Amino acid sequence: MKNHSKFKYAFGEIEIGNRAQALVAESFKNHWVSGGPHVKTFEDLFRKTFSYKEAVATSSGTTAGFTILASIHDLGASWGDEVIVPALSFVATSNAVMAAGFKPVFVDIQRNTLNIDPNLIERSITKKTKAIQVVHTMGKPCDMQPILEIAKKYKLFVLEDSCEAHGAQYRGHTVASMGLAGNFSFYTAHMICTAEGGMIATQNEDFSALLRSVRSHGRPDGTDYFQFDRFGFNCKMNDLEAALGIEGIENFEKIFKKRKNNLNYLLDGTKDLSHLFYFLEEGDHEVISPHGFSLVFREDVLNEGSHLSNYLIENGIQVKTLFGSLPTQHHVFKFLGYQVGEFPQAEYVGLKGIHVGCHQYLEKSQLDYFIDHLHQYVHRHL
Ligand SMILES: Cc1ncc(COP(=O)(O)O)c(C=O)c1O
Repeated sequence: MKNHSKFKYAFGEIEIGNRAQALVAESFKNHWVSGGPHVKTFEDLFRKTFSYKEAVATSSGTTAGFTILASIHDLGASWGDEVIVPALSFVATSNAVMAAGFKPVFVDIQRNTLNIDPNLIERSITKKTKAIQVVHTMGKPCDMQPILEIAKKYKLFVLEDSCEAHGAQYRGHTVASMGLAGNFSFYTAHMICTAEGGMIATQNEDFSALLRSVRSHGRPDGTDYFQFDRFGFNCKMNDLEAALGIEGIENFEKIFKKRKNNLNYLLDGTKDLSHLFYFLEEGDHEVISPHGFSLVFREDVLNEGSHLSNYLIENGIQVKTLFGSLPTQHHVFKFLGYQVGEFPQAEYVGLKGIHVGCHQYLEKSQLDYFIDHLHQYVHRHL
């Protein structure tokens, strides 16, 4: 594939193939571009590919998360209740909690997994807690067993933000099938790209009717008339986006394999640096979804992620941080009153972590280019 990015090594690329183009052309020919037959086909394919009972397509990963959260109002949650979230994640996870009328209560992560620390959850539960919103960060599944046990003990919903984890598995279970529901993103650079788009998966058929209602302004499931039964929003996917999604899901296995090979190649080419960096390790009990390649400087390496980032960016490699601590390293949740130091692991990763792409269009020469530049940096600066 031709490199369309200004970077020599981009975080993500998109290629729209003949299948998607034909489906888009079909929509134009039929003069039907909002949600219709393509959305239905995409939902069916997504559901079958991962053996979910239900799949509900949305306009983004963010609105997918919002739709799940807003739907739990019908299951006993009240405005102002609390939802536990990891301190480190892409901001959309916690913004969706706020948008659905709940207060995010942040819990620190584990440095080596980048995921919520199950040992810290119980102390954050109050009478107002209604759900634990986990995030399978960088495609690595959270340690769900203790989380599900805590949720059972306190009668909480478990919601799985799987936006970076398409196809990931934990002890034989696909992500988004262990809690009440899970959301996915199809933004550029994600495993499937629909321009903008998202999906909700659930094993609960009754819940999916609620999701479809909230996705469409709180109307009764399947109708588009003016009856509004509950709080909702316009979170619908359209048929042009779904056309791209159909091509993506039909090629999912191939894409997953290529990205996984790329990720393993990067891990292999940098394993001599594991005394300097934490890399995500895949345990026997899990399958990590190849969303990106992350690294975090180890404790005794006196360096900041931003210094390495600048070096890589100067050399044409697109680099992203590892989000950092939302409650203390960003302004967005300042009003909640958290203080720097309350989330030592998320704050550490915020300063010392970065990630780059491992997408399916990267060639071996580009992977080697990144590996060489990481080594060059280490020789010069560490
Ligand atoms: C963990 C996580 N949650 C939510 C989202 C939001 O998805 P979208 O950008 O499709 O709204 C993302 C996007 O990358 C994400 O990484």
